[in-house]
Amino acid sequence: MTEITLPRPDDWHLHLRDGAMLAAVLPETARHFARAIVMPNLVPPVVTGAQAAAYRDRILAALPAGMDFTPLMTLYLTEETDPADVAAAAASGLVRAVKLYPAGATTNSASGVRDFEKVRPVLEKMAEIGLPLCVHGEVTTPSVDIFDREAVFIETVLDPIRRATPGLRVVMEHVTTKNGVDYVAAQGPDMGATITTHHLIINRNHILVGGIKPHYYCLPVAKREEHRLALVAAATSGDAHFFLGTDSAPHIDALKEHACGCAGCFTATNTMQLLAHVFEAEGKLDQLAAFASLNGPAFYRLPVNEGTLSLTKSDVPAQWPAKIEGAAGPVTVFDPGFPVYWHVKD
Ligand code: NCD
Ligand code: ZN
Repeated sequence: MTEITLPRPDDWHLHLRDGAMLAAVLPETARHFARAIVMPNLVPPVVTGAQAAAYRDRILAALPAGMDFTPLMTLYLTEETDPADVAAAAASGLVRAVKLYPAGATTNSASGVRDFEKVRPVLEKMAEIGLPLCVHGEVTTPSVDIFDREAVFIETVLDPIRRATPGLRVVMEHVTTKNGVDYVAAQGPDMGATITTHHLIINRNHILVGGIKPHYYCLPVAKREEHRLALVAAATSGDAHFFLGTDSAPHIDALKEHACGCAGCFTATNTMQLLAHVFEAEGKLDQLAAFASLNGPAFYRLPVNEGTLSLTKSDVPAQWPAKIEGAAGPVTVFDPGFPVYWHVKD
């Protein structure tokens, strides 16, 4: 196969930031993706329906003329979140999910949840109205090894929350382990998981062997090769639990190439080309539409996009800018470390 056409894809986990960074990175997503679930971890975070509406308006104002893109907004769950505000923001169609960050788990997660009992009324309201909870699935307990934090989260937080809140619809975001894949695959239709582009391509050696590579550092951190293989198997399986969430997370180079470098890989620009490469290598190009265009809308109960996106394979490697140069500073585009021969057709 040298050409494939999909319903226009969506990105079910994306960081767009704000201000100059938003202006620089938004076209990178809008070029290929019709919609994205926009993460609320701004500083300060997007906590209320009113803040989500204002952020959506800033995104739409930053969208270049002629581009067609719909931001799907989320609220950042805090111990003070008001169930009535969440319900109103969901009923109006503004908010499509609520994001749970365990306090301190990742970039801008200081306002996250410490005491899960405090958010019980919100979770119960969400179960009642069918609004998905997106979870950053890592514990933050200092004594738990960073490579084990996802597996421990599933056992000690995720599974107990789901058992205590029947009917709660949950997306395990950026799943990075075989433990995560196995857990999600064994659940019913109320459970889904996003998989990033970069976790399909790198394992922890890519970060650490031959010198530290800050542009491969993200959270959850990439794990052993056996886990990457489990992610590839899940993404290419067609299983409706799994869908694309790039977690494209821009940070300027000065903050990535730093003594305390920020977590995040920026993949908005080249995700579709990279996915075509990964799926073809598995002999599963026929499942790319399920992963990037169909399973996400089905979970979120939204229509599949009407437009299409075509990819073609040639013997010339695909090119993309090494960096996105915005007014906030340069952002390095994820480099898979191998040539990619799939091109997105204009
Ligand atoms: C994200 C960011 O930079 O906002 N970073 C990351 O490594 N993925 C936060 C997150 O999703 O964990
Ligand atoms: Zn993220």
